[in-house]
Amino acid sequence: MAAEQIKSLIKSFGEDDEERFFSSAIQIAAAEARKGHVNIAQELKALIDKAKQNRSHHAFDKSATVHLSQPKRELLELIDIFQPQSTLKDMVLDLELKQTLDQLINEQKKAEILRQYNLSPQRKLLLMGPPGCGKTMTAEAIAGELGIPIFIVRLDGIMSKFMGESIVKLRLIFDSMVNQRAVYLFDEFDSIGSHRHLGQDVGEVKRVLNSFLINIEKDNSNSIIIAATNLPESLDKALFRRFDEIITYPRPDKKGIKKILKKLTQNYHFDQEVNLETLADASLGLNYSDIVKATEEAIKYMILSSENSLSLEVLTKTLHKKKI
Ligand SMILES: Nc1ncnc2c1ncn2[C@@H]1O[C@H](COP(=O)(O)OP(=O)(O)O)[C@@H](O)[C@H]1O
Ligand SMILES: [Mg+2]
Repeated sequence: MAAEQIKSLIKSFGEDDEERFFSSAIQIAAAEARKGHVNIAQELKALIDKAKQNRSHHAFDKSATVHLSQPKRELLELIDIFQPQSTLKDMVLDLELKQTLDQLINEQKKAEILRQYNLSPQRKLLLMGPPGCGKTMTAEAIAGELGIPIFIVRLDGIMSKFMGESIVKLRLIFDSMVNQRAVYLFDEFDSIGSHRHLGQDVGEVKRVLNSFLINIEKDNSNSIIIAATNLPESLDKALFRRFDEIITYPRPDKKGIKKILKKLTQNYHFDQEVNLETLADASLGLNYSDIVKATEEAIKYMILSSENSLSLEVLTKTLHKKKI
């Protein structure tokens, strides 16, 4: 084996340059094949394929805090990187929404099969709806289901911090989608997608939006792109057709409230019989986030007052407080 290729192999490992690592490995296999060492060449090729598969499927080693080399470090100013902590099972979703998300995950997991038929999996989503109803959580859950990290892009931060340079920064993010498969969440997307801007240079916002539209159209990476907004009415209409799927997150109805309350309290006993129906009626209008917080407050109260059952009265109160 050529010393140069082995050196390159070791160097690329040290620099966490996966692409060069595999290309050096393939060169070594090819060199063996040329020398007539068919068996070892085949063995190497099989090892490389397996390693590649492992890297892409279990893409993310939870213990590894991504090694970021030079260009990626620049990226760190623009995004927050998280290891997803939840999956779709942690969420309360109505049937239609659940089916939509299951389909997306399935297409993503079986992307290779689809590609053989010249089809691509869905991967550009626009999530809309009031706060606290699961948009950010969905992005995290998709990453969790696929075993990839979630990169949260702070568009408003980019625009205020990098005045005049936002487009270059946006380009960096889209470039990264090719190199690092992840869920890229453009949270609070209305900061560029909207007609209404407060206190920002309108010209800059328009340029960033245009640049986003061009970039998302051109993008054919393996990453998932999610834009989320609380203000769908204000979104520029040109945006809608750039996404594979537009999903609306409603406030929970009674059924949703009952489900989340049940989920949150399933490991506890109540101090009296609970009529979920009544509790749900009293909570109508709250979002999932309020209900989670109110229930956690009641659970914390139970723990700190050394009770061993959850007080229905306290929970009713903490829920009620969220309505005001
Ligand atoms: N559909 C849901 N199922 C379960 N919990 C939810 C749901 N939606 C929101 N939550 C809870 O509320 C919190 C905030 O939700 P989030 O996804 O950030 O809302 P959004 O992005 O729509 O404003 C989540 O961390 C989770 O605890
Ligand atoms: Mg959110």
